[in-house]
Amino acid sequence: MKQSFICAYWIAALILLSASLLSARQLPQLGKNTLREVVAAMTLEEKVSMVLGTGMHFPGMPPEMKGPDVGEITDRVPGSAGMTFPIPRLGIPSAVLADGPAGLRIQPYRNNDSTASYFCTAFPIATLLASTWDTDLVERVGRAIGNELREYGVDVLLAPAMNIHRNPLGGRNFEYYSEDPLVSGRMAAAMVKGVQSQGAGASLKHFAANNHEWNRNTINVKAGERALREIYLRGFEIAVREAGPWTVMTSYNKINGTYTSESPDLLLSILRGDWKFGGLVMTDWFGGQDPVAQMKAGNDLLMPGMAVQQKKLLAAVRDKTLDEAVLDRNLENILKMILKSPSFAGGGACSNKPDLKAHARIAREAAAEGMVLLKNERKTLPLKPGSTLALFGNAAYEMATGGTGSGDVNEAYSISLLQGLKDTGFSVDDSLAGSYRSYLTQQKAILPKPSMPFMPAPPIPERIPPPGEIDGISAKTDIGLMVIGRNSGEFLDRRLENDFCLSDAEKRILRGLSAAYHFKNKKVVVILNIGGVIETAAWRDLADAILCAWQPGQEAGSAIADVLSGKVNPSGRLATTFPVNYGDTPSSSNFPGTVLEGPDPNNRSFMAGARAAEVLYKEGIWIGYRYFNSKNIKTAYPFGFGLSYTDFQYGNVTFDSKIFRDQITSSVTVKNTGNTAGKEVVQLYISAPAIKMEKPEYELKAFAKTGLLQPGESETMTFVIHPRDLASFDTQRTAWVAEKGEYRVIFGSSSTDVQQTGSFKLPGELTVEKLNKALAPKGEI
Ligand code: BGC
Repeated sequence: MKQSFICAYWIAALILLSASLLSARQLPQLGKNTLREVVAAMTLEEKVSMVLGTGMHFPGMPPEMKGPDVGEITDRVPGSAGMTFPIPRLGIPSAVLADGPAGLRIQPYRNNDSTASYFCTAFPIATLLASTWDTDLVERVGRAIGNELREYGVDVLLAPAMNIHRNPLGGRNFEYYSEDPLVSGRMAAAMVKGVQSQGAGASLKHFAANNHEWNRNTINVKAGERALREIYLRGFEIAVREAGPWTVMTSYNKINGTYTSESPDLLLSILRGDWKFGGLVMTDWFGGQDPVAQMKAGNDLLMPGMAVQQKKLLAAVRDKTLDEAVLDRNLENILKMILKSPSFAGGGACSNKPDLKAHARIAREAAAEGMVLLKNERKTLPLKPGSTLALFGNAAYEMATGGTGSGDVNEAYSISLLQGLKDTGFSVDDSLAGSYRSYLTQQKAILPKPSMPFMPAPPIPERIPPPGEIDGISAKTDIGLMVIGRNSGEFLDRRLENDFCLSDAEKRILRGLSAAYHFKNKKVVVILNIGGVIETAAWRDLADAILCAWQPGQEAGSAIADVLSGKVNPSGRLATTFPVNYGDTPSSSNFPGTVLEGPDPNNRSFMAGARAAEVLYKEGIWIGYRYFNSKNIKTAYPFGFGLSYTDFQYGNVTFDSKIFRDQITSSVTVKNTGNTAGKEVVQLYISAPAIKMEKPEYELKAFAKTGLLQPGESETMTFVIHPRDLASFDTQRTAWVAEKGEYRVIFGSSSTDVQQTGSFKLPGELTVEKLNKALAPKGEI
C-alpha cells in the first residue's frame, strides 16, 4: 500500500515536471522569439512591473516613494542607481543602471565582502572635458568609463549630462558641458560613442531645459519654440543623430506647462518623430507626476519605480483609461535595450577588475588638456624648475575633484596639489601646509552635516592667515599660490555672495599675497578649482597668472603640476563665458524663477517643501556669446578663450566654392610661431544674413584642435559646412530655414578674437528641414 502510494506520487510529480518543462520550452524567450511574442506572453502584472524600475531604498524614505512590490530583488551592483524588472520565465534579466557623468558611480565596498574594493576612476567634470575641445579625447574617456561599466557588471551609464549653461549659478553646471549647443552636442556624442563602443549603454540627460536646481521637481520652464529648438534641444539632437544613445532620461521640470516625461510633443513629435530616436526613454528618479500620462507620452520606463505608480497603472489598464497597447509599445523599447545589454548578451559576467591604472593616465591627460590659462603676465608660467611655492587657500589642501550628488564618483584616491607639485620637483612650504591641515581638521570636526545624503556640504570658512604670516612666507618662497575653490551639486543652485563672488576672506588673502610678493618682485599665481563660472574681473589684477583648473578629477594635483611646470602646454579654451558682472548675464533677471501662489496642488508629499514655480526664458536665443558679442557687452573672459605658452598664426583660408549648393569645404592653416610646442583650437563661426529673422552676430558651427605643433610647424584644418549650419529655426513655418544671401565665415581663436574671414553666397532661400509643430508656449513669454 505504502509502496504503491510512493509510486503514484512519483508518477504524478514526473507528469507535472514534464508539463512545466514543456510549457517553459513553449514560452517565448527574449532573444529567441520576437519582441512582440515576448511581450504578449507577459501577464498584465508583469507588464506593469516592467515599465517600472525595481525601486529604491534609503534611510528615512517617505512611504509613497517606496518601490513596487516585486518580491525579493537584491541590488546586483551596490551603489548603482537602479535596475529594470526581470522576468526569468521569459528569459529577461534585469539591467543595471548607474550614474555618471564624471565616471561610474557605485559603492566602493560591499557588505558581504570586506576584502575586495570596487573603486572607479574619477574623471574631470564635463565642463573641463568640454574645455578640451577635443572630441577624440572625450571619446577615449568614454571608452574607459564604458570599460568600467563592463568590468563591474553595469549595463547603462546615466550620462552624459548635457543641459545648457544658461546661468552661471546653475548648481549642476559642472555636470554639463557648455553654454553652446554645438559644443554640448558634439561632446555628448563623443562620450556616448566611447561608452557604447564597449558594449554598454549611455543615457542623455536631463531632457530638457533642466538648467537650474531650484524647485526642480515642480518648476515650469516657459520658453519660445525657437529658443528650445536652437539652444536647449539642439545639443540633444546632435548627440541623438550622431551617436545613437541607447537611452534618454527626461528631466524633472515642465516645459510650457507639461512635465517633460509626460510630454508627447517632446518625446513623440520631437525625439522620436523629428530625430528618429529608436531607443528607450526613462524618467529621472521619481520624476513627473502622472504615470499614465508618462506611459502615453512614450516615457517607456519610470525610475526607480514606486508602488503608487504600479497601482495607478494597473487600475488605468483595467478601467480602460490606458490602452494596454501603449504599455506593449513601451515594453518593446525596454526589451530592445535589454537585448543589447551585457546582462543579457554576456550573461552579466564581469571581472570586477578594471585597469584603474590605465584609466588614471587618461584622467590625468584629459584634466591637463581642459585647463584654461586665463592670464599669464610677464611669462609667470610655466614656473621655473625648482621654484619654491607657498600654497594659500583651503582648496589648496582640500581640492574638489568633482561636484556633489549623483555625479560624485567613489574614487580610490586623489592626488593633492601638494603631492603633484612635489612629484614634479617643486618645493612647497611645509610649515604653511601644516597650519592649513590642522585648521581644516578642526573645522571639519565642527562642520554641520548636510541635511540630506546627496546635498553639498557647507564650505569650510576660509582660513585667515595670522598677521605677519604672508609677509614671512613671501620672504622664503618664490611664488605665492592661492587656490580658490567652489563646489556645488544636486538640489541647490549657487549663490552670488561667497560663491559666484569671492568672499571677503579670499579677497583679503589675495590682496595680502599681491602686496607681499609684488613688493619683493615675486609672483602670485591663482588656481581656480571650480565647477562653474565665478567673478574674476574685480580681483584679477592682483594675480600675475590665473589657471582655471576646474574640478579636475582624481589626478588633480598631477595634472595641475603638468601645466604649471610646462610639461603640458595649456590648450583648454572656455566653453562658457565668464561675465564681468553677474547682472550682465542675459538670464540674470529670470533666474532661478518665481514661486507661484500656494503649494503645487498636484504635489506628492515627498515634494512637500517644493513650491509651484515658474521660470521665463525671456532672453530667448540670446545665451552666452550669442548675446555678449551681438550686443557688444564686455566679458571678463569670452567664450572660446584660453592662452598658451606659444603663439599661433592663421592664414591661407580656402573655399572649394563661393556659391553654396549642397555643402562647402573650407580650410585654414595654423602655424605655431612661438618657441614651445602647443595645440590650438580652431573655431569656425558663421554670420548669416538676418533679413527675415533676427540672428546672433555669428554662431559657432564647427571646431577642431590641432595636433601638438612644434615651433614653426603648421597644420591645415578642413571643415565641411552643411545646410543645417546655415539655418535658423523659423517658428512660423516650424522649419530650419537658411536665408538667401552672403554668409561670412570667421575663423577665431576665441569668439571675439577673429583671425581670418571669408565668405560664400547662398543663391536662394533653403528650407533645410520641416519639423513637427511642438512645445508652443501659451501666450507671451
Ligand atoms: C539625478 C539624475 C541621476 C538620478 C539617479 C537624480 O537625482 O537628477 O541625474 O541620474 O538621480 O541617481
